[in-house]
Amino acid sequence: MLFKPQQASIGLDISDRSIKATQLRRNLRGKLELQALSAIELPPTVFNDGEIKESAALTNALTELLTKPQYGSFNTSYVTACLPETKTFIKMIDIPPMPENEIGQAIKWEAEHHIPIPIDDTYWDWQKINANKKINTRLPVLLAVVPKNIVDTYTKAIIDAKLIPLALEVEAVPITRSLLTCSNGEKKDSATMIIDIGATRTSLIVVDLNSIQFTVSLPISGRGVTETIASSLKLTEDQAEKAKIICGLDPKKCHGAMAEILHQMMDDLVNRIRESIVFYREHFPQGNKIEEIILCGGGSNFKLIDKHLNAKLELPVRRGNPWLNLEPSPCPLKPGELITHTTAIGLALRASLNSEDYD
Ligand SMILES: Nc1ncnc2c1ncn2[C@@H]1O[C@H](COP(=O)(O)OP(=O)(O)OP(=O)(O)O)[C@@H](O)[C@H]1O
Ligand SMILES: [Mg+2]
Repeated sequence: MLFKPQQASIGLDISDRSIKATQLRRNLRGKLELQALSAIELPPTVFNDGEIKESAALTNALTELLTKPQYGSFNTSYVTACLPETKTFIKMIDIPPMPENEIGQAIKWEAEHHIPIPIDDTYWDWQKINANKKINTRLPVLLAVVPKNIVDTYTKAIIDAKLIPLALEVEAVPITRSLLTCSNGEKKDSATMIIDIGATRTSLIVVDLNSIQFTVSLPISGRGVTETIASSLKLTEDQAEKAKIICGLDPKKCHGAMAEILHQMMDDLVNRIRESIVFYREHFPQGNKIEEIILCGGGSNFKLIDKHLNAKLELPVRRGNPWLNLEPSPCPLKPGELITHTTAIGLALRASLNSEDYD
């Protein structure tokens, strides 16, 4: 359910404070291009940490989102949506070699050691990953686990909006699909860390050998940054948001005030990234070295954040390009806005690409 691409559909990125939708189509040259794109903000009462609190408001927002696109027009009712990052679990695990018909049971047993809720209260899925046979005698498997109540409430909201859910994905999957080329089966000899800085959380994804290895959710968020600025400078949230966007971490802007206020927060972010790099090295000793960091999400627009992370982590850091798998053509959005559509584009790509692209 969680991995295999199927039929043309709208990619729906449902977050606590916003929903974004993207639909792609193939043009006469067989290349992918944008069919439609839309985004809508949500009031703070609709969700609480990924859990739907006001289902009717969500359904109305979904309807408005798709009937009033920012670009093009949506012409299908099928959707591929993502589940809240903080409520889902995705990780590479490995199991000993065994007969095919015993693998499912072995993974279920192994999964119970990795998740904090009873496995029977979850939907879970797995996918065999091509192993490096020379050094790996065990079978690597990508495991995804989501609580049943989350899947069921998201599915209901989608159906109530008269849409047809084709698939629900753990968010790291579409983000990775969007930012890394998925059409070539080449194996890189380095790993990549993707950092999605959203309004409500930051997620960190390590990708190696064309597959997600693990993800971590960090309690650093765009809204948190705005709140810190508002309380430190006694500003309203709107003023703080503007100040954040204008100044970023640029010491020449706002007399360097922002850099000073956010010093602690940035240090925390850098430390958590360092911890994750160490975790990856220790728990995935056969993996390639992380040699690049790609940023996405609205928070990646934070001025000079790439240079700041680059200087502290001594790794190349760049903003991602979610247009990567689409035909080069003028994009209706500015790069800063496009990067907030990374997940929605990745979800839409699922339907547009062939399943063998992921083998
Ligand atoms: N130029 C900018 N500088 C700093 N932050 C920015 C800038 N532009 C947007 N942001 C921040 O990006 C955040 C929104 O990003 P995004 O749309 O990726 O979040 P989301 O997907 O709604 O949330 P989440 O993924 O956490 O559920 C907001 O907190 C906003 O303040
Ligand atoms: Mg997001």
